[in-house]
Amino acid sequence: MKKGFGATDRVDQWWKGPTAMAAYLGFMILYATWRGFMEADFWIFEDFGRSAGQSTMAIESNGSHVLSPLFSPLILPGSGTFGGPIPEFLWWMSPAMFILIFPAGFRATCYYYRKAYYRSFMQQPTGCAVSKPWNEYSGETGLLLVQNLHRYFMYVMLAYLPILSFDVWMSVNFHEGGIHAYGVTVGSLILLVNVIMLTGYTFGCHAFRHIVGGDSNDWTSTAINRLKYRLWKLSTKFNEQHKEWALYSLFWVMFADFYVYACTDSFFGWSDIVIWGGF
Ligand code: FES
Repeated sequence: MKKGFGATDRVDQWWKGPTAMAAYLGFMILYATWRGFMEADFWIFEDFGRSAGQSTMAIESNGSHVLSPLFSPLILPGSGTFGGPIPEFLWWMSPAMFILIFPAGFRATCYYYRKAYYRSFMQQPTGCAVSKPWNEYSGETGLLLVQNLHRYFMYVMLAYLPILSFDVWMSVNFHEGGIHAYGVTVGSLILLVNVIMLTGYTFGCHAFRHIVGGDSNDWTSTAINRLKYRLWKLSTKFNEQHKEWALYSLFWVMFADFYVYACTDSFFGWSDIVIWGGF
């Protein structure tokens, strides 16, 4: 094989995929980091209003509660709401900082994302039959043993799905001066699609597929085994498109956050349109 970074006999445009991936992931990481720090002064949330008695960074103009998935579950230090036990002196931390480690860790240790960023960012490898800048390869040893935490991040993400579903429920509950009504806004639908995308991504996780169907040679003799088989088949369906679920769900969660941001920041002047019901 030819020697030297990027040297290859390949004649196709092999570099396009890793370059596009580096741009995509790089942008998403920058955006999430910027947003994670952006609301470091959590009193800003008070300015955004209250929904059902709780301070939120919600879209409040219509009385609905649309919480950005990057900030859910909402943890406010010393507030006595969701994050009651978080001490007051951590007031300078954005709610996103308490929780982003879990979705970020889940994605960072995901089998698909590993392939993507090992190629795009680490040149390990640069591409099939393409020379890379370094020869050493020790696999996922040393520091990279941390990748084995993936299954534990997956357990946490399974708990996230009901939390994010609860946010969808909150978004269709309107409160105004003690009056309650149901309604659906564009924001509700965006949050709903976000839950669907994350469910497809999580159910297709290799670790999830192993949990429900692995370590078994018998899928028929008992009701539990037959259930495991059905779950394994379902997970396999999602797993076959795991790359797509991974990339599209990442886009959607950022888009959902941006939507909430654009609806709460006067610079954009967006407002959450009520499609049905409400006040
Ligand atoms: S392998 Fe991708 S989420 Fe688990």
